[in-house]
Amino acid sequence: MIDQMYRKAVLTVAGQKAIENAVRARGWGMAQRFVAGETPQTAIQAVHDLKKDGIMANLDLLGEFIESPAQCTQFADNVITMLDAAHADGITPYVSIKLSSVGQGKTEGGEDLGLTNARRIIRRAREYGGFVCLDMEDHPRVDQTLAQFRTLVGEFGGQHVGTVLQSYLYRTEKDRASLDDLKPNLRIVKGAYLEPETVAYPQKADVDAAYRRLVYAHMSAGNYVNVATHDEGIIHDVQLYALAHGISKDAFEFQMLYGIRRDLQRNLAAAGYRVRAYIPYGRDWYPYFSRRIAETPRNAMFVIRGMLKG
Ligand code: FDA
Repeated sequence: MIDQMYRKAVLTVAGQKAIENAVRARGWGMAQRFVAGETPQTAIQAVHDLKKDGIMANLDLLGEFIESPAQCTQFADNVITMLDAAHADGITPYVSIKLSSVGQGKTEGGEDLGLTNARRIIRRAREYGGFVCLDMEDHPRVDQTLAQFRTLVGEFGGQHVGTVLQSYLYRTEKDRASLDDLKPNLRIVKGAYLEPETVAYPQKADVDAAYRRLVYAHMSAGNYVNVATHDEGIIHDVQLYALAHGISKDAFEFQMLYGIRRDLQRNLAAAGYRVRAYIPYGRDWYPYFSRRIAETPRNAMFVIRGMLKG
């Protein structure tokens, strides 16, 4: 309950233009803890740095609720530029995209622009042996995202495209089961958006319990699972579940956000688990940064202290 209230308060405050302007003007130094940089080159450098610790990378060009179709297509072009740059640098690219950023919900040439642009991105990633994960956004987008995921797996194969399910939504366990025929590569998260009680569990304990059920069900169905959380209790339980059910360490991976629990990321990698860090980069870092602050009061204190220092 407190978690929900805290998240709501932070996201509401963060949505105010005056706050956004103040943080944008003075906050880049603080945002760098969570964002690799503003250019593809800085993100690629972060990939190489993590590799030294045996940690894999997931690149994410920041940009949300981009307005015009031309901007969406430009955004997709920028993702493709990143794929080219990563490949040229000897990296097999693994990227995440938000379908809203590439035009989901906008029609062009009789087709959803998000789907058209996602195809272009996945086609290029596949050329390089890479992978594209479709991030999950706020609840009104879930139906369309899952439908487009199904289409894209049909066209490109499940080894080149995956998506995300959020344990805070009541609907998600059914959604997971409904995808089983695809043998999908799924990232399981708790969920980062401000959702109403009509669609999402208000109590953290319910979100956590649903999270465990989702991971266990997906593993037991023989599918590859991306266990994306910093929750040590859950990580520990997943390790035990895998051991108890004879699920090998290469049938799943732990995923965490860049700059968060680096100690845990390194320890898991050293223990032989697959670990991947989600590396955001780009100029549009403010909404991403706000959600990280909304996740824990510790991060809010970090920002307030930074702002006071000037
Ligand atoms: P929880 O919030 O319960 O935190 C568990 C513990 O982790 C806390 O006690 C704290 O110690 C630590 N922690 C968590 N967040 C922290 C932070 N920001 N800073 C410092 N410590 C922190 N969401 C979504 O809606 N759609 C998506 O596509 C994705 N994609 C995604 C990819 C990856 C790789 C990750 C790790 C997360 C996402 N998310 C997401 C975000 C996700 O929904 C969720 O908001 C965050 O992961 C925080 O929840 P935890 O599972 O870490 O647990």
